[in-house]
Amino acid sequence: MTRKRVAVLISGRGSNMAALVEAARAPGFPGEIVAVMSDRADAAGLETARAERIAAVAVPRKDFSDKAAHEAAMIAAIEASGADLVCLAGYMRLLTAGFVDHFAGRMINIHPSLLPLFPGLDTHRRAIEAGVRIHGATVHFVTFEMDGGPIIAQAAVPVEPDDTPDSLSARVLAAEHRLYPQALAMVLRGEVAMDGSRAVFSTRS
Ligand code: GRF
Repeated sequence: MTRKRVAVLISGRGSNMAALVEAARAPGFPGEIVAVMSDRADAAGLETARAERIAAVAVPRKDFSDKAAHEAAMIAAIEASGADLVCLAGYMRLLTAGFVDHFAGRMINIHPSLLPLFPGLDTHRRAIEAGVRIHGATVHFVTFEMDGGPIIAQAAVPVEPDDTPDSLSARVLAAEHRLYPQALAMVLRGEVAMDGSRAVFSTRS
C-alpha cells in the first residue's frame, strides 16, 4: 500500500492535527502526516508537531505584503512537502478562489457543527441559543463557499440542558478527534471524491 502524503494547516492549538498524527501512526492507515504549516508563528500546534518529529513551518501573514503573496508562499510550502492532500484543522484564514482551485478535491476541512447548520464562528453558543438537541462536527471538501463544500462525514453529539458553550465544545471536540481521522482515511482510500458540488462515495462506510 502506498501511503499518501498529507499536510495539515493550523492556526492555533492543533488538537485535531495531533489526532490526525496519532491516527496516521497506526499500521494500515492509508497516509502519513508529512508537514504542518501555520499562518501564525505562535500557534501552539507547531510545537506539538515538532515534538512528534513532523516538519512544522510558520508562514506568518505579517511577513507578506498582501494576501496573494502569503497564499503563494503557503502553496509553495505545501508543494515542497510533496503533499497529495491538505487538511485544514483550525486554519482561521479565509482562502481565495485561486488557493481553493489549486487544491480542488484535495483539500478537506473540519467544522464544529452539523453543516449546513451554523457555518462560520461561535458555533457552540449559536447551537445552544437555537435550542437544538443534537450538535456535532462535519468534515467536508473545501470549496470557495466557506463551510459549504461537499460533506464527507459527520459526527453527532447530544446537547444537554445545562450545557455551556465550553462544555458543548469539549464534547464536540472529542467527537472531532475521532471523526477527522476516519474521514481522512476515506478520502485517502478513494472511498469518497469530490465531483463538482457533490461528494461521490464508491463504498459506503
Ligand atoms: C476545531 O473545533 C475545528 O473544528 C475548528 O477549529 C477548532 C480547531 O481546534 N475548525 P484545534 O486547533 O484542532 O484544537
